[in-house]
Amino acid sequence: MLKIRVPATSANIGPGFDCLGLALTLYNYFSVEPSDSYELVNVEEEFNNSDNLFLEAYRYTSGLLGSETPVKVTFDCNIPISRGLGSSSALITAGAIAANKLCGDKMSSGELFQVISDIEGHPDNVAPCLYGGMTASLQNDGRWLSAQISIDSRFKFCVLIPDFEVSTEQARAILPSEYSREDSVFNSSHAILLCEALRTGNMGLLMASAKDRIHEPYRMRLIHDYDLVRDICLDDSDSVFLISGSGSTCMMISMSELSEKSRSRIHEGTSHNWEIRDLQISQGACYWEDHKWKTII
Ligand code: HSE
Repeated sequence: MLKIRVPATSANIGPGFDCLGLALTLYNYFSVEPSDSYELVNVEEEFNNSDNLFLEAYRYTSGLLGSETPVKVTFDCNIPISRGLGSSSALITAGAIAANKLCGDKMSSGELFQVISDIEGHPDNVAPCLYGGMTASLQNDGRWLSAQISIDSRFKFCVLIPDFEVSTEQARAILPSEYSREDSVFNSSHAILLCEALRTGNMGLLMASAKDRIHEPYRMRLIHDYDLVRDICLDDSDSVFLISGSGSTCMMISMSELSEKSRSRIHEGTSHNWEIRDLQISQGACYWEDHKWKTII
């Protein structure tokens, strides 16, 4: 039996739209075994079909490897769906890893990264999902590239997950198709200095640089209670408040944990049952061997 664990991911990190992402300690687990036919266990009815992203990635990767073995897959998923925490990327990454493992690990992690980025269409969730930590990624001459960005270990990542979904399609559709030179310069300069702030633990620089003009101004209106939750978090301590991926989840980064008082204010003042989770930066995708989780890379 092959067991795979893949992390939730938070993409964009403010100004790093479609480029930056980080892996978090919230996981989906998959137990995979060869079978006579495909079978998905513990999957909601609406996702239990051939469009299931794990299955699609498994079959696509098996096709590339030239050998497809039907599998029974038991899902144990904790990453909420359509909340901006990379649930689709987690399924795609796990499906591709499963196919590669059952074919004898013929693909390197770099090749797997090409495959999962091609399936997802952008690399900012799949890169940290596969590699862990924080990543910056781009596409060059048709090939996806990714690099690790170090993060000062003192930073705390508080993820605030409301009870409603935002579809990525909708959240992408509302974005402008063109941006001014001023906004382009704003985002590239902020993204570069945000990486430096995270690397060095410079909270002042992080607060100055974690600003975005590409997606957050347009998407915040899709997130009920956004202003209230943001203001409570920013009042709590020196911190930054970001939309995780395309939302609806938001993420606070600071050097201290959100106070009990602020947690109560969010629970009592909002109408959307925000779940607040304190997470750490995670290593990337793992498989179970010799009684421990081992990273794919
Ligand atoms: N970078 C993507 C977006 C992440 O913000 O649309 C969501 O999958």
